[in-house]
Amino acid sequence: MRLLVKLSAVLFWIMLVLPGVGTAATTPGKFYLVGLGPAGPEHATLKALETIKKADLILCHPELAEPFQAYLQGKKVMDPWPDLWPEQGLRQLPPAARQALVAEKNRQRDAFIKQMQARLQRGENIALLTGGDPTVYSRCFWLMEGLDDNSVEIIPGLGAVTAAMAALKRPSTGGQARFVLLTAANSFFGPNDPEDLARDLARYNSTLVFYMGLRHLDRLITTLQKYHPGDLPVAVVYYAGYPEKEKVIRGTLNDIQTKVKAYQEQWWGMIIVGRCLTGSGFTLGE
Ligand SMILES: C[S@@+](CC[C@H](N)C(=O)[O-])C[C@H]1O[C@@H](n2cnc3c(N)ncnc32)[C@H](O)[C@@H]1O
Repeated sequence: MRLLVKLSAVLFWIMLVLPGVGTAATTPGKFYLVGLGPAGPEHATLKALETIKKADLILCHPELAEPFQAYLQGKKVMDPWPDLWPEQGLRQLPPAARQALVAEKNRQRDAFIKQMQARLQRGENIALLTGGDPTVYSRCFWLMEGLDDNSVEIIPGLGAVTAAMAALKRPSTGGQARFVLLTAANSFFGPNDPEDLARDLARYNSTLVFYMGLRHLDRLITTLQKYHPGDLPVAVVYYAGYPEKEKVIRGTLNDIQTKVKAYQEQWWGMIIVGRCLTGSGFTLGE
């Protein structure tokens, strides 16, 4: 009997000290990258909202979280960006300072990811929330570097381009466009030959969709004017999808700069250029 008591005491300590011994192995959690859509919960998918519900930890910028307060009640919410993201414009720094800051930020990011991996190992589900669709211009992919693809699931979201085209009531593929180009001013202007795309693409009937373009609107339009006819349609959609704030301005390469002058907004706007804005949406038999 005493032997039995001794044996069970030893067994108890083994179970306590060795993780996983005598207990069911913990199933690792998932790291979800969740696209919230362009304009609050009405534009989020059911899957995005369900994923928020089952997450143990939510990573999110406060501005993005704001319209989703009702879904975040009682949740552990953390903003990872102020510590990890370099707020000062990296491009403005001299090369050596830029390199040093990037290295430091990458080091901090790697340490952060190690913490997230430890949480996943403990079985926690983590949801990193992002605006629009996560696969288009999202800094979240930098944040997630180092995570194994098997532990990641991406929840697609409605992108700003879709909301902008809906506001314009036109298909981006209309006007006999041969392709739709999603770009940003930074990638549209080439590093060595800034006008390469503007010049080359002018050969094709296409739709150009610019993200983060409002700050560069003047440069974009004056560059496009060199290679395209002045009557090429252009539209700017501010706050696409927001019932109170959405604003559509239509024009051409000739007059869009004058038409948008009154609007100060420098971030929440999509610039669309192409015959899709005025041409036929879909032609039977083509
Ligand atoms: C960093 S990108 C993120 C894009 C996002 N992942 C998406 O799929 O829509 C931010 C840019 O997207 C555009 N954007 C995002 N939401 C928007 C909205 N509701 N209305 C207009 N533009 C929007 C703006 O051009 C903004 O500068």
